[in-house]
This record gives sequence, structure tokens and C-alpha cells, in this order.
Amino acid sequence: MKTILSLLSLLFVLVIFALSSGAYNMAATEKHWAVTEKIIEWVRESSIEARAKNLAVPALDDKERLLKGATHYDAMCPVCHLAPGLKPTELSAGLYPQPPVFHQRQPITDPAEKQDRAKKYFWVIKNGLKMTAMPAWGLSHDDDSIWAMAAFILAMGRMTHEQYQELVHSAENHTHTHDHGHDEH
Ligand code: HEC
Repeated sequence: MKTILSLLSLLFVLVIFALSSGAYNMAATEKHWAVTEKIIEWVRESSIEARAKNLAVPALDDKERLLKGATHYDAMCPVCHLAPGLKPTELSAGLYPQPPVFHQRQPITDPAEKQDRAKKYFWVIKNGLKMTAMPAWGLSHDDDSIWAMAAFILAMGRMTHEQYQELVHSAENHTHTHDHGHDEH
């Protein structure tokens, strides 16, 4: 027992020594081991699921909501998450982990899965994700705007450049004619 304890203490000291010597490479260009990536993914998914599961989802296919989401998305998100017709940006290319590209995802048809995904998207948009560069937009946006973005991202699965442009432009016209301002503070 005593030997095990001494060995563990020695290991602990060695690990602290190695870390403080700078042996661990923090560079964004240095990928995690596959196993580390799996662990991070598991912790992230469990954390999001536990915090998002009791959220009440508004109507996701509501036209007004989608248009509002399109305006917000186009103004703030393509620099990292891209948009149909947009090539990787200098900023997005250098990020690790890489931001997901929503318009390259398959559209979700199952209603239960759609609700589930909307809750997770809402939670991440509102709260951000530690150590990933994904900002917490809840500091500057109300829940209504965040649900709008979650609904829009869900609708982005396999969206074409034309469909994207049409939604963003009709959202702009809509804002002008009906004076529904972009309620960013
Ligand atoms: C500075 C870059 C950056 C900006 C700007 C940004 N994101 Fe992200 N976002 C990320 C990164 C990186 C991830 C991936 C994090 C990870 O892999 O854990 C991410 C993850 C997400 C996720 C989780 C997706 C999933 O399936 O796991 C959602 C939803 C999201 N972002 C929505 C948005 C929205 C909406 C906007 C605009 C309001 C936005 N992001 C702006 C970098 C960004």
C-alpha cells in the first residue's frame, strides 16, 4: 500500500514537472489524440444534453422566425460556420476545433429528433462552448432571437446558395417594410 502511494506521488510530481516544463503543446495546429477527442465529445454532449433537455421549443417552421434567424445568422455566423456559396474564411480555417458547417448537414426529418436538436442548438448559441471559440450570444441576444437562429440552422441542412440568398434578402425586405428591427443591443 505504502509503495503504491509513493509511486503515485512520484508519478504526480513527474506529471506536474513535465507540464510546467512546457512539454504539452497548446498550439491549435496540434490535434488531440483520437481518444482525447472522444472524451471531450462525450463530456460536451452529456453536458449540453443535461442542460438543454427541459427547454420548451417554439414553432420551428414559423416563417417570421426563420426570416429573423436568417438575418441574425447572416450578420454574425458565416465568418466561422460559413454559408452556402461561401469558401472557408481565413478565420474559420485556423480554428481548432473546426466549426461545423450547417448547410452541409443532412436535413432532419424526424420531428422528435428535430426538437431535440433545436434544444441543443439553442443552448449552445445562448451559452457558448469553453475552449472552442464558440461565443455565448445570450449576453447580447434575447431568447426569441436565439430560437430564431436555432430554427434557421436546422433549416439549413443541404440548403443551396440560391435558397440561402433568397431567405436572407426576403428577411431584409421584410424588416424594411414591417419595421421589425434587428434587436441587437
Ligand atoms: C469565432 C468563431 C465562431 C462564431 C463567430 C460562431 N461560432 Fe458557433 N461554433 C464555433 C466552433 C469552433 C464550434 C464547435 C465547437 C466544438 O466542436 O465543440 C461551434 C459550435 C456551434 C454550435 C454547436 C453545433 C453542434 O452541432 O455541435 C452551434 C449551434 C453554433 N456554433 C451556432 C452558432 C451561431 C448561430 C453563430 C452566430 C450567431 C455562431 N455559432 C458563431 C465557432 C463560432
